[in-house]
Amino acid sequence: MINNVVIIGSQWGDEGKGKIVDILTEKADMVVRFQGGNNAGHTLVVGGETYALHLVPSGILHPGKKGLIAGGVVVDPDVLLEEMDKLQARGVAVAPDNLMLSERAHIIMPYHRLLDQAREGRRGEERLGTTGRGIGPAYEDKAARVGLRLGDLRDLVFFRDQAARALTEKNHLLSGLYGLPPLTLEDLAARAEVWSRRLAPYLGDTWLAIQAALARGEKLLFEGAQAVQLDLDHGSYPYVTSSNPLAGSVAVGAGLAPRLIGGVLALVKAYSTRVGAGPFPTEQDNDLGLELRRKGAEFGTTTGRPRRCGWLDAVVVRHSVKLCGADHLAITKLDVLAGLPELKIATHYLLDGEKIDFFPADIRAAERCRPVYETLPGFEGDLSRARKMADLPAAARRYLDRLSELCGAPPAFISVGPGREETITLHDYF
Ligand code: GDP
Ligand code: IMO
Ligand code: MG
Repeated sequence: MINNVVIIGSQWGDEGKGKIVDILTEKADMVVRFQGGNNAGHTLVVGGETYALHLVPSGILHPGKKGLIAGGVVVDPDVLLEEMDKLQARGVAVAPDNLMLSERAHIIMPYHRLLDQAREGRRGEERLGTTGRGIGPAYEDKAARVGLRLGDLRDLVFFRDQAARALTEKNHLLSGLYGLPPLTLEDLAARAEVWSRRLAPYLGDTWLAIQAALARGEKLLFEGAQAVQLDLDHGSYPYVTSSNPLAGSVAVGAGLAPRLIGGVLALVKAYSTRVGAGPFPTEQDNDLGLELRRKGAEFGTTTGRPRRCGWLDAVVVRHSVKLCGADHLAITKLDVLAGLPELKIATHYLLDGEKIDFFPADIRAAERCRPVYETLPGFEGDLSRARKMADLPAAARRYLDRLSELCGAPPAFISVGPGREETITLHDYF
């Protein structure tokens, strides 16, 4: 019997983590975000209503469950407050008894956002395609030990002092290098006052709350954001995010000792998508890609950008399953593939004529990888009413079997639509 599960994306993000976390929350007590920030966009469809969450853990829609934003997350307080207000306006309770923020979490300051966007603008064609939310610059300052943390909002005199020091350097960059108007200390101090007044009641040391919950025998979910291919160390650098979305990151970001990790569930979209630049060996920059985008509504939850689409890449998923020790897969968006005459899965690559079965560290090599496909028969029909495997067409079951075999883990969930109930459950985690 396990008491916690880490949920991670195995491709390039947007695999449907929010939906699966929402389903698992029914039996859990606490949901913890442990890395990333509001670059994430997790969509939940409950009772026909759609919720897009960027920072607040996806368990929030279940009354009585606790959401934690742990120390490894970077938090834009303006975005967080807006999200909390929107949820409250829709009747979702958000209060210190169901949401806790780590005092160790670093703040995304307005200058981080501006620098992210200015740098991307300067790179032009060479841009990384970031979400422009200030994620990279905030993590840079954390590593450089000049960041401001949510806990610093408890002492506004100290906060102002630190912000003044930061502004000296940031304004130099903003106006000197990028020709933008400088930010004023008064503006930052005024914002900090609002942030402090509204967020201070939510602050705490989240790792202690996690320890206490484990001691009480509660069940925890760790909600990963982004995905292994966007991992700062293990993804296609530099086309990555600035945090570590792989499962092991929960040890640092949330403060959970590695040997206490109970289970790891890897999310796999039944095909591939990527938003932003970088290598994507199975990309279909053609009519098929457009069809997948249309049928799968593949537009970014955070930025609205069209997602690049392609065939499932078992090399990528296998890589993630191994790196994260995933025990099960949650395979999503199977319904989107219905109607295609045949389906392809990349089993390995040819790199300069040589067969390889891993994603190369060097992106120039990754760009030269030619996927080798296995072709399977397609299936038809509306899958969204399937609730058990027997409800699926035989060819869909065959596709799932082959996918699991190639990716190296059995499925726990098959998702056949965006709604909570549009799911086949094969393995109950709790
Ligand atoms: P996340 O970032 O991993 O949480 O995923 P996103 O929410 O960014 O993107 C997944 C999108 O697919 C959302 O719009 C979901 O509502 C939707 N979705 C999730 N599962 C399914 C599914 O099985 N079928 C279909 N058609 N849509 C799904
Ligand atoms: P969820 O949690 C998909 C991508 C961006 C860009 C790269 C770096 O919804 O799966 P950043 O703003 O993080 O510096 O951008 O990472 N990216 C995501 N792509 N889903 C996400 O989150 C993403 N978060 C960041 O598009 O390519
Ligand atoms: Mg998303």
